[in-house]
Order: sequence, then structure tokens, then C-alpha cells
Amino acid sequence: MSTQTPSGSAGQIGDGGFKIPDTGVFVSEYNKKILEATRMPKRVKILDTTLRDGEQTPNVALSLDDKLKIAQALDELGVDIIEAGFPINSEGEAEAVKKIAGAGLRSEICALCRANKVDIDAAIAGDVDSVHIFLATSEVHLEKKLKISKEEAVRKAVEAVQYAKEHGLIAEFSCEDATRTSLEFLDEVHSSIESAGVDRIDIPDTVGVMTPAAMMQFVSEIRKKTKVPLAVHCHDDFGLSVANSLAGVRGGAGEVHVTMNGLGERAGNAALEEVVMALQAFYGISTSVNTRKLAFVSRLVSQLTGVQVQPNKAIVGENAFSHEAGIHVHGILSESSTYEPMRPEIVGKERSIVMGKHSGAHAVESRLKEYGLSLEKEQLKELVKKVKKYAESGKRLDDAELFALAYDILGQETEPVIKLEEFTVFTGLNFTPTATVVMNIDGEVRRASETGVGPIDASLAAMRSVVSKNIVLKQYRLEAITGGSNALCEVTVKLGDSENTGLISLGRSVGSDIVTTSVDATVEALNRLWVCKLSAGGKDNRRKAY
Ligand code: KIV
Ligand code: ZN
Repeated sequence: MSTQTPSGSAGQIGDGGFKIPDTGVFVSEYNKKILEATRMPKRVKILDTTLRDGEQTPNVALSLDDKLKIAQALDELGVDIIEAGFPINSEGEAEAVKKIAGAGLRSEICALCRANKVDIDAAIAGDVDSVHIFLATSEVHLEKKLKISKEEAVRKAVEAVQYAKEHGLIAEFSCEDATRTSLEFLDEVHSSIESAGVDRIDIPDTVGVMTPAAMMQFVSEIRKKTKVPLAVHCHDDFGLSVANSLAGVRGGAGEVHVTMNGLGERAGNAALEEVVMALQAFYGISTSVNTRKLAFVSRLVSQLTGVQVQPNKAIVGENAFSHEAGIHVHGILSESSTYEPMRPEIVGKERSIVMGKHSGAHAVESRLKEYGLSLEKEQLKELVKKVKKYAESGKRLDDAELFALAYDILGQETEPVIKLEEFTVFTGLNFTPTATVVMNIDGEVRRASETGVGPIDASLAAMRSVVSKNIVLKQYRLEAITGGSNALCEVTVKLGDSENTGLISLGRSVGSDIVTTSVDATVEALNRLWVCKLSAGGKDNRRKAY
């Protein structure tokens, strides 16, 4: 059986007559069998609650500006509804909800409210489109937290929905802790608010206590009793929030509450990126989300909230499309679906081949080729051995280290051809930064002065001017290793050659002075570019690269 054709995919015929689907997603055909047995919606609405439940993540507090940036990004991502906040919570939160509601976004803007007029008034003052009213209904919440009877709960729920509707709001209602509430009582609340005109009913698994099978059954029981559109809101306490959200959809929900990167109370909520991709890949259900923007929005939310995405996080994690093991890399390089269930670009990511103790010759060779460097078979074998040994010592091995090892084997790393003899830079207030360098290039002493927007820019410009104007700065990365004004920094410089666009080299240096560390990294990159250029030049016995 082929495990490569997604539902509804026409597919293309690959080299050996093998069908490569053109949807960019490659999941098991067994999923189709489930679909045949269930009626599924064609489209599911996405309510994003990153700015409300997501902001309830411990230690997360977003500024007004950051909230606006995230709302804008979610709108561009295409979510149907943005739960912008809980206006009664604080003046700042009320202001943020109002600003987001007034930002002219395409998405419906929703505010969270308890089932009372004061909360709903705060939402009305925020000019939102909709309110998400909640009231706990499980016995433990009614008895121990709210200390109200079931009758009182029903009365409060009905009054709140009526009040919201009288004020022209779209009303969504959640029985908080629904999954630990008896179905009988839930039906009573749901039918009462249905009569009061509720627009949508959400079913929260508030403390993430359902299994997918139970969630599907639970939602389908509720589905039988009400015609109001249903949503699910699943928490991740047992790591089942995404599975439970999908099960909720199978049970009859047409809307899913999610957060970017799965942020939220305690273990978080169902992750938007996972729910959207799984709905599409497994069930062929579309959403309004532009999946190509997922990686960007994930990064933005991570930066603004300060909550790092775990590297092995599905869809948006650093490692989601990274490959190290030799067998995997070999497979990936011939057909990516061998070890990737979806193409990285459909979620806005890029594939990366990581060098490490599991790397094989294919990975190492293909990475060197990207930089225009090729090794003899025996040299490559030796390099793979060195790569494994280096990685086994626990050190990070990225392109700069790989090159250092490769040049070591080529025997060209020991004596650098380009040496920095003198270096001065002047900078200050109302003064154009100017750098002067004297460099020894394979025995020939050259000097140049250049200006720049800052001392680093001026220094790099002077060095390029001395060596060759064909040299282009492809990337400059500065990272602080330690804190404080005397922090150690690490600079990585990537250089290219405008005459031979295939040539790229990297240099890296660590030091406490940003300018001299940048200069050191550039000298290293220049020496490597020199070697690359000579070896790319073939056997014409050229001695000078520049
Ligand atoms: O998890 C939950 O129950 C909630 C409610 C506010 C719906 O977030
Ligand atoms: Zn929640």
C-alpha cells in the first residue's frame, strides 16, 4: 500500500512511476478509511486566543504595541476570529481590546466576558464584534468556586446572552469545565441559551482531561441536542489538545479555539499551526489560514512573548525540517517525502541539513557543494570521520566549523594567505566612521580607507576595498554570549564573490570587542574565500585568487 497520497490529491508521476502528490502533504492512506465512515465539514473556523488564553501563559504580559502587532499578524494569517482580551481584567487590557477592534482588521474581534453585565459593558465599550461569555458548570466549580446553584447558573447564562444580543453583539458561550459537567446539565444550559439567541456554543476541555475518543463522542452527543454551531477549546495538560480538537471536529464542531505555538494557561492550548495543518492533511478540511505565514507568525509571537518555541515542536520548531542522520539525508536529497510528511515551504519553513554525529557522506558533500567546495573521495571520508568526532565531543557544528575541518584536510588552513597588519577605526558623534586597513595579501602589502554607517560597516568596506570589490557581504551575524557591557560576542561573516556567485565562505570569531571581532571573522572568511576561488578555478595553476 502506498502511504504517500493525501486525500483528494491528483498527484504527479515521479521517476519510477511512483506517485508524488502535488499538495505538498504526504500522509498515510489509512486516514481516508476514517473519513469514509464520518461526515466531516469542508471548512472549519479558527478562533485564535493567543492574545487572551495565550497571554495567560505564566510570566507573559504583552504591551499594547505588541498586542497590536500580533493582532495584525493574525489578521494577515487569516484567522476568522481574534479573541483580543478580557477587557474587565485591567484598564490596559480594555485599551488594547479597543485599539485592536478599531484597527480596521478583517477578522472578527471578540472579547472574553464572565456572565454578567459589567463584563459585557466593558466589551461593548471596546467596540468589539463579539463576546465570548463563560460560566463554569461542573459541580466542583459551581460548589467550590462560584458557590451558586445550577438554577442560578442557568439564569446568569441566559441573562448574559440576552444582554449581549440586545446590544447587537455576536454571542459565543462556553460552559467552563464542560468536559467535567454532566451531559444532562450541559443540555439544559445549552437549550436555555439557544432560546436566548446565542450564536455559537463552545465546549471547553478546560483542564485537558479528555481522550480523543471521548471528546468525539461528547461533542456528537451535544451536537444531537442543539442546532447552534459548536466550537471546541482544548487544553494540553495531557498533551492531547490537538488530537482532542480534531476529535471535536469529527464529533460535529465547526470552529476550533487555538493559540499560536500552543501558548496558554498551564500546559497551554491547542496549537494553531498543528490544528490547521492536521485538519488539512488528514481530513482535507480547509481553514482561512494562509499556512505559508505560519512560521513567520510563530517567530513573531515567540519574540514578543519571550516564550521560546521548543526545537522539536511540530510544524514551526527549529528541528521540524532539519535532518542529520545519514540515511535520512540520503533519502531527503533524492525525494523529500521519504522523511518529510509535508514540504517545508507550505508552512513558511526551510529544510536544513544539520551536521552532527549522525551525518553521512551525502550530507557533508552536498553542504560543501552549496559553497562551491568539492573534496576527493578519500578526503570526504576523512572529513566525515572528523565531523562525527567533533560532534561527539558535544560541540555545536555549523557551517563555519565544517569549513574549518574541510580546510584542515585540504591542508590550506594552516598558513593564511591574507593577513591583517594594521587596523584603525574612528567613530564618534557627528562624525562619519572611517576605517583604515593595511593587509598583506600573499606577500603584497595593500592599504585602503573607507567610510561606513558605523565602525563595523567602515571596517568591512575597507577590507573589501583592499582585497577585491567583487567580494560581497552575504550575511553578518552578531550574538552576545555573555551579558553586560563587557560581554563576549560571537560574530559570523558570510562572504560571496560577485564574479562567481557559487562561491561562499564563512568566518567566525569570538571576542569582547565587537569591531575587532568582526574584523577577525572577516579575515577568516576572506582566507577561505581565497581557497574556494583557487580550487573553483580548476587546475590552471593560478596562484592568486584576488
Ligand atoms: O479553558 C477555558 O475553559 C477557558 C474559558 C474562558 C472558556 O479559557
Ligand atoms: Zn482556556
